Amino acid sequence: MIKPDATGAGNTGKIIDRIIGAGFTIKAMKWTRLSMDDAAAFYAVHRERPFFGELTEYMTSAPIVAAILEKENAVADFRTLIGATNPAEAAPGTIRADFAESISANAVHGSDSDENAAIEGSFFFGTRELA
Ligand code: RTP
Ligand code: MG
Repeated sequence: MIKPDATGAGNTGKIIDRIIGAGFTIKAMKWTRLSMDDAAAFYAVHRERPFFGELTEYMTSAPIVAAILEKENAVADFRTLIGATNPAEAAPGTIRADFAESISANAVHGSDSDENAAIEGSFFFGTRELA
């Protein structure tokens, strides 16, 4: 997912270029906006965390781009491409180092396992939307 800070700052195209340049194939993509219920469901795993309210407020504050990406070793390689959650700790040249504003507004989301990638893909896309 490309998050609200990045869509709002006009960085969507640059981030998609980085993703394609790193060897990912786009299987599905859409520009949309999360409702509060959507954001709470998507990040349900974090609902007990102190930043949950801030996270859902932020994730609904502007449009996002959702995508399903394919690559060998996609989960690990995408996390390498995006960098650490906190952009201050993200390696130079990563998407978060170059585009994130803060630990909350950190430009992109990546799935943390193949299992969660399948769940998150189904959250946004039906089977007819897969290229
Ligand atoms: P993501 O799920 O969005 O790819 O991010 P991540 O794995 O790198 O980090 P995670 O621990 O899953 O946290 C999810 C998102 O919650 C926000 N967050 N805010 N204020 C804070 O201390 C804090 N910590 C996390 C970030 O937007 C983070 O990406
Ligand atoms: Mg995460």
